[in-house]
Amino acid sequence: MSMTRKAVLTISANPFITRLVSKYGMKLGASRFVAGENMGDTLLKVKELNNEGLLVTLDLLGESVHTREEALVATDGAIRSFDAIQQQGVNSNVSVKLTQLGLDIDPYFCLDNMDRIVAKAKETGNFVRIDMEDSPRIDATMDIFSTLLEKYGRDHIGLVIQSYLYRSDKDVEQLGTHNVNLRIVKGAYKEPKEVAYPEKKDVDEAYRRLVASHLRNGCYTAIATHDIAIIQWAKTFVKENNISTDLFEFQMLYGIATSLQLDLAREGYKVRVYTPYGKDWYPYFSRRIAERPANALFILKSLFRK
Ligand code: FDA
Repeated sequence: MSMTRKAVLTISANPFITRLVSKYGMKLGASRFVAGENMGDTLLKVKELNNEGLLVTLDLLGESVHTREEALVATDGAIRSFDAIQQQGVNSNVSVKLTQLGLDIDPYFCLDNMDRIVAKAKETGNFVRIDMEDSPRIDATMDIFSTLLEKYGRDHIGLVIQSYLYRSDKDVEQLGTHNVNLRIVKGAYKEPKEVAYPEKKDVDEAYRRLVASHLRNGCYTAIATHDIAIIQWAKTFVKENNISTDLFEFQMLYGIATSLQLDLAREGYKVRVYTPYGKDWYPYFSRRIAERPANALFILKSLFRK
């Protein structure tokens, strides 16, 4: 991990900075990365994206909740988003984080909450993907995922794998035997070198390896990156290996590489935009700044805009 990224992630955890940015950040530029603070505004953005040929996955922001009440509110929020998607007839599925649903409070409580969400996904003919968080939570996330995969099937639940982790080759191989729908990402957390590749080139190489392996196993793969070199590689790989465009999709974050998203959609690829919404946007926002400190400049510039 680069020094700058590490520094931004450390500074952003400072309580004073957290309070300051949470109060003013949405006006200062967080709205570039967050579709809205409420469902109504967000659905308008989802419709705009759909009209441009882009699919969506909605993410109700929030993570690491500390009380059962908060976790239940988040669970109800995810359930309500399936109803809203159905009522508005928009093309979107849903992504969730298990720490938002009570993973750190009690894994069984979290499992119950997640069970209700997948049940709703199934009832509305939709799909929910569990985002992957930092490495100490992976085993618990995998356990909950496996239990619900067995109960509801892979058409209704999927998972994320991070290429920066050494363990991911084995995980992809194992999940491939169950034909799991995986989103492959590079990984966004501050991880020690004991568990994750410190060098970007190794993370990128692992990324290609994991995507290739999952696609070769005939499993649905969401190629979630803004890395143009990897996207070009993926386009060539699928062509050379006669992989149907039904077996994969590109995914990118709301507000990032927007013209690339549109270009790929125009070329006929499926492109899904990870679209966060809600009031609790600060940790998500900090990770986006850490990935690209130039984004902090964008925020500063908006301070001086009329
Ligand atoms: P990389 O960081 O190499 O960036 C490639 C290029 O993309 C950069 O040069 C820049 O041009 C552009 N770019 C990247 N980030 C940018 C930013 N913030 N602002 C502006 N430009 C940027 N992580 C995780 O740990 N668990 C998860 O569940 C998910 N889920 C997820 C879903 C989706 C749809 C995406 C796209 C990403 C995630 N991630 C994630 C985040 C992921 O791990 C990673 O941190 C980011 O995608 C950035 O890495 P890239 O693959 O884009 O490559």
